[in-house]
Amino acid sequence: MAESKVNSGFDLHVDLAAGGSRKAALGAALRNAVRSGRLNPGTRLPSYRALAHDLGIARNTVAETYAELVSEGWLEARQGSGTRVAHRGGAGAVASRSVVPPQMRPRFDFRPGRPDASTFPRSAWLSAVRRAVDRAPSDAFGPGDPHGRIELRRALADYLARTRGVRTDARRIVVCSGFWQAATILAESGIAGPFALESHGLPFHRTIFEKSGPTLAVPVDDNGCITQSLSELDARTVVLTPSHQFPTGVSLDPKRRIAAVEWARERSGLVVEDDYDGEFRYDRLPVGAMQSLDPDCVLYVGSVSKSLSPGIRVGWMAVPERWLDPILAAKGVRESTVGVIDQLTLAEMITSGAYDRHVRAMRNKYRARRDVLAAAVRGRVPHIGTLGISAGLQAVLTLPDGSERSVLRAAGDAGIALEGLSMFRHPAAVGPVRDGIVVGFAAPSDRSYSQAVDALMSVLTARAPALRRE
Ligand SMILES: Cc1ncc(COP(=O)(O)O)c(C=O)c1O
Repeated sequence: MAESKVNSGFDLHVDLAAGGSRKAALGAALRNAVRSGRLNPGTRLPSYRALAHDLGIARNTVAETYAELVSEGWLEARQGSGTRVAHRGGAGAVASRSVVPPQMRPRFDFRPGRPDASTFPRSAWLSAVRRAVDRAPSDAFGPGDPHGRIELRRALADYLARTRGVRTDARRIVVCSGFWQAATILAESGIAGPFALESHGLPFHRTIFEKSGPTLAVPVDDNGCITQSLSELDARTVVLTPSHQFPTGVSLDPKRRIAAVEWARERSGLVVEDDYDGEFRYDRLPVGAMQSLDPDCVLYVGSVSKSLSPGIRVGWMAVPERWLDPILAAKGVRESTVGVIDQLTLAEMITSGAYDRHVRAMRNKYRARRDVLAAAVRGRVPHIGTLGISAGLQAVLTLPDGSERSVLRAAGDAGIALEGLSMFRHPAAVGPVRDGIVVGFAAPSDRSYSQAVDALMSVLTARAPALRRE
């Protein structure tokens, strides 16, 4: 039998019962697979020739069995498209599967942390995949190196130096699947705790660091995290969002950056710089990465989650020299999270300039959205303050004390998904609770954006008397 004909089939697992005729056993096995739902309607079956070869039975036996199952309504045979599992009931009705009820979708989604998913650069990515796979050496398709592909590490070292002022090289870049994995490595390996976190941040990130024990909270004000107070805490590592504090959006004051670095130096500690949206600055002077102050004690972390998509799961760490071996050891002997094709594709996107072009286009888009939001607040609710509006993908609208919950409720009633500042507050945070809503202005699509802003302003204007500060 010609190899090519046999190889052109589809794989199909068939449990042939021992004993009895092969035809009866094959028929029973296929009926069973369809009845149980293991083979879905429309699933294409292997050719007679290929299945006969795989099962070690005669080609005619397969042909006759298929014909029988077609006549019973289990299978359908169409000229030119082979034999498939039948779509309609009959004897071959598929066992019903549980239907997951559709999630309630908000009319307008202002939840922070999400880019506009409709803008993923599909054609640039596709042509980068093609070039990357075409040019990849064969060793790329062997077991993955947990350090990351050299092509990507080189591209990132250059890119981060050029755009964020990061001082590193390809050897000190470690590829990871994003901040989530970087945090997991640090917390689970036991190399970096106890951890001090900003008093406001993502609760699920806090949960990761708490795998190593309780975390401590460093207060945040309008100049960022008050790092001078770190010396009062018994921590070895502080995790900061210096470019654009999450969620308040403020930039970390230069003196506080220095204070954090000095604190880490004194105790052989570590500053983890979460540069989650550093590419997106609008009208303030570019703020470079804090890592450049001291690459030996700042571990810089970034990912494509804001620039491309949080679903891609490619990120990077620029690691201080003495943390490199422990981090690589903690990653294990093989890369187990970031696929090689995604790594090579991102390297290709960066070196070809496609990544820069996309980031620049997105920066313009998000700046325009930020402008629409800021103008709406000024025009319709001028008594409400804004924070963190000069960079990133989220802004905070500050509210009078005690009003956050009622605004969130009214927004929910209007079909607007929003989050309040209080949900980001560390349970150990001290100081007054600040009320506010965190508006992720990147998530709604272009089509719905002005309507979404209008709906949000209507919620706020309806509550204007309660929200006025006098
Ligand atoms: C504060 C903060 N850090 C980091 C990230 C990125 O996380 P990851 O790289 O795991 O997707 C986000 C994304 O939402 C974020 O909001």
